[in-house]
Amino acid sequence: MTVALAGTRLPAATHELILAPQSIKAHLAGYDVSMLGFNGGLPGPEVRMRQGQTARITLDNRLEEGALVHWHGLRVPNRMDGVNVLTQDVVIPGDSYRYQFGVPDAGTYWYHSHYLSYDQVSRGLFGAFIVEEQNAPAVDHDIVVQFFDVLLDQSGQYDEGFNPAHFATEGRIGNTVTALVSNGTSKNVRQGDRLRLRLINPSIDRVYRVGLDGLAGKIVALDGMPLAQPQTLEPILLAPGQRCDVIGDATGPIRFDDSFGERTLSLGEIAVSGSREPAKAPITALPANRMPAPQDPGQTAELVLQGGAGSASHNGTGTWALNDVSGLPRTPFLSVAQGTTARISIRNETGFPHVMHLHGHHFWELDAAGEAGPYRDSTYLDTGETRDILVVLDNPGSWMLHCHMLSHQADGMATWIRVG
Ligand code: C2O
Ligand code: CU
Repeated sequence: MTVALAGTRLPAATHELILAPQSIKAHLAGYDVSMLGFNGGLPGPEVRMRQGQTARITLDNRLEEGALVHWHGLRVPNRMDGVNVLTQDVVIPGDSYRYQFGVPDAGTYWYHSHYLSYDQVSRGLFGAFIVEEQNAPAVDHDIVVQFFDVLLDQSGQYDEGFNPAHFATEGRIGNTVTALVSNGTSKNVRQGDRLRLRLINPSIDRVYRVGLDGLAGKIVALDGMPLAQPQTLEPILLAPGQRCDVIGDATGPIRFDDSFGERTLSLGEIAVSGSREPAKAPITALPANRMPAPQDPGQTAELVLQGGAGSASHNGTGTWALNDVSGLPRTPFLSVAQGTTARISIRNETGFPHVMHLHGHHFWELDAAGEAGPYRDSTYLDTGETRDILVVLDNPGSWMLHCHMLSHQADGMATWIRVG
């Protein structure tokens, strides 16, 4: 089912914003569900800025519990990263915190609660954070689509019960999937129009393989970062926290479906009415962001993903562990001088997929031959899979590295890296 929402779109020049998490009623699957939202909405307001601007955002905590906001994928100064213990104290009810940071990279990012996030994100504390290019490609519509799932009980209310099995398996998968479409549905999309779709997966644990019908186009960015060569549009694996930008021309109603599970699931659609001649302009690569160049690795490390139902025991105290430790250890997994290029080999020894996310940096996924693939902030590993990543650790501070299946993070699959 689909819920169409016109997100609060801030003009690109506005970068002073208050984000107030609070209790809300969201209309989901025909029910009025008690959820949480920023500024009264689920998703929260769509933040839109231009590359190079400075964001000034005040978190005004109107919850009856703590709050924190993390700017997922944005290279922010460490103090602005929104992580309990590592970078700041939790903001208590009634209190506020002022975040200020520049946005050096254009792309599709998002923000979300980083406090008890498996619970607060699943209740709705997230939103899109869009940084527009100085020379954005010409499109008729720039639409954010967030695939969000929620677990509702018999009476259509948010299911409070956390089953331990959720934590030890593939996580807490919702029974109601919603495509939250911002902006686009308030405007009339015609057949032949050129669209930029910014797909985001804010679900806590659910992985999608998003099929797109009714669009002839290309994949132009992953996790916010432009691909050097746009790729053929095929079903897109979108694990929790990941993003994908697609540019293409509407050939009919745009339908989203998910083929990750055994059954193909309809996720929603963007209707079209009327038609026009499609633009002839080819779809080319987005302008590259200015990123640090990798050196020969000055540091190598291995990170082993362990635990969960049915796998060998480990020495951590939680269900999941990284290198035999569950949860944030006192000493970091890795400590390097600022500017070090590190090659980290991540090995998934568990019986479930995971998606490992590094804060404050992007990294190259390396293929089996060691060639650099996409530049991402979250990498998906199927059960039994090993992936090497290459990262220039140039942003000083303490940075979390964790599974973005937030039930797994909550139950041990988290560590950190110290830079500088
Ligand atoms: Cu989007 Cu630490 O996460
Ligand atoms: Cu995981």
